[in-house]
Amino acid sequence: MTGFTYEEMCKIVAAAARAPSGDNIQPWHFESQDDGQSLEVYMDAETQNGKIQAAARIASLVAIGATLENALVAARGYFGREFKWQALDTKDQMGGSICVARLEVDDTTRTEPNEKMLESIFERHTNRVLYDSLPLSDAELSECQNTQDDIAKEYPNVSIQLFNSRQEIEEIGQLLASAMPLLFNIPSISGHVFSNIRFPKQNELPPPTGMPAATLADGLIQQKLLRFLSIPRVTNIAMKLGFAKFIGLGERRMAQSASAFISVSANSSSTHDLLSAGIAMQKIWLMCTKVGLAVQPAASPVLHAWFKETEGSTYYTAKQWPKVKKLIKEFTTMLGEKDELMPAMLLRIGHAPANSARTGRRSIEELFTYNKTEATEADI
Ligand SMILES: Cc1cc2nc3c(=O)[nH]c(=O)nc-3n(C[C@H](O)[C@H](O)[C@H](O)COP(=O)(O)O)c2cc1C
Repeated sequence: MTGFTYEEMCKIVAAAARAPSGDNIQPWHFESQDDGQSLEVYMDAETQNGKIQAAARIASLVAIGATLENALVAARGYFGREFKWQALDTKDQMGGSICVARLEVDDTTRTEPNEKMLESIFERHTNRVLYDSLPLSDAELSECQNTQDDIAKEYPNVSIQLFNSRQEIEEIGQLLASAMPLLFNIPSISGHVFSNIRFPKQNELPPPTGMPAATLADGLIQQKLLRFLSIPRVTNIAMKLGFAKFIGLGERRMAQSASAFISVSANSSSTHDLLSAGIAMQKIWLMCTKVGLAVQPAASPVLHAWFKETEGSTYYTAKQWPKVKKLIKEFTTMLGEKDELMPAMLLRIGHAPANSARTGRRSIEELFTYNKTEATEADI
């Protein structure tokens, strides 16, 4: 079986790297083996520092799941070829760079290349503005349901739920209004978020990592406020003054402007199930992009569920811990989930103009190595 050439693999990796990741940290790199017959995806552990290490593993695997979906679509769209993916067990590994998944060329079926399939990969972005709060149209609803059905068939280890009644959206808004202050009052979290904000100069390309201030806030005043808050000492004082609560109220307003929320949960926190959840999240996000729906992860309750699972009470103050347990109970009840399910993502969905600014990505040279077999190298 012929593998992908270096140039072909670069196109696939460029598409994979457009996947979303928490704070745009891009916790991945790629290695192609055996003259392009396979592509291995590594989780970069240097992003898993300090206390957030265990929860960062979950966040990274969900994001890497999204890179897998992009790679599958790119192989099909550019070249009409299929990959088969498999998860590699990583449960107990924490440090270093860990190979978490392998994609292998599978030429049992071939289709006509169709580059239109890739448009959504490059158009997809996180849209953090207020949406118009109008209900989903029948056509949008049926696209959501079709994607949900496709995921159920292909990934029975993942559960998807659509919340689109006003009452459900209001309940989620209340939940987010409590979850966000609890999250931002953890200094390592607020510090991490604000220190990942980047302030590029006018007319510059977006910075390769982190989130450009322009994609977070539309107005100049908000951008000035973000610059101020990214100073660690200011963040601390602002949180002490109750700024987290203010952010929580903002979250509620954002939630109320949505047309729907979609939750993604995995059957377990195994590498395979979390990667599958990431694939499912990306399928939904690409479908929304295709039909013109705006998307923003509303990850605060999901993050609490990850911290509870991985760090338990040690992560919170004694005063916060009962509130967190209550919040997670409310969230999982809302999802109608059995206890062992692991929430993987909550997406806010609605109608809004697309962002003009895009986040940057690290270069392909930095992300990707193509390994040839010795015989082929000698041939050249
Ligand atoms: C696991 C995960 C959690 C995320 N959490 C949030 C979030 O809570 N709020 C938010 O606005 N964006 C969130 N994002 C979106 C990222 O910030 C975004 O994907 C990244 O900055 C790249 O930007 P892009 O999606 O526009 O390409 C999350 C993404 C992932 C994969």
